Amino acid sequence: MSKKTYSPAKQRAVYPGSFDPITSGHVDIIQRGLKIFDKILVAVLENPKKKPLFTTKERMSMIQDYFVDQGNIEVKAFDGLLVEFVKNNNANIVIRGLRAISDFEYEFQMALMNRKLDPEIETLFMMPNLRYSFLSSKLVKEIFMLGGGLKDLVPEQVEKKLKEKFKKSAHA
Ligand code: PNS
Repeated sequence: MSKKTYSPAKQRAVYPGSFDPITSGHVDIIQRGLKIFDKILVAVLENPKKKPLFTTKERMSMIQDYFVDQGNIEVKAFDGLLVEFVKNNNANIVIRGLRAISDFEYEFQMALMNRKLDPEIETLFMMPNLRYSFLSSKLVKEIFMLGGGLKDLVPEQVEKKLKEKFKKSAHA
């Protein structure tokens, strides 16, 4: 029997978040997204409610560094409403990762509110590999600060940046 060819949608999707910092779970979602979309536009929120550890520029450059050889990943900062950013970038799909049931309520609320704000925009939820279902940027920072290892939890470059950041603040 001949193998069925699957033709992905020729479209790009926006993957928004705080990315403070990017984790292996985020990387996993981006790579899964590329199985469906030609391009992923990673949208880094400039002013998350919780004061970020890394500046917008630092958060963006950690993502750019990881995907440096991939022309199908673009990274931009955004402020204000996500739906406006998506529209202004000629996209209509938002990707979000769903790790566990605990994510569901917040994500469901956000997706439906975004739909109310702009019915043309669809949110697509993707599940990361099970090994990342417990992973979050918040836990990464906590583990690091308490001296735990981050192997496999973040890209190597991110661990380096965390070390630099805490060395700087220790001398400040
Ligand atoms: O990584 P996070 O912090 O879970 O990402 C949250 C994010 C950036 C997707 C969300 O806070 C957002 O979209 N903020 C932009 C402001 C906005 O559009 N708010 C209304 C959403 S219903």
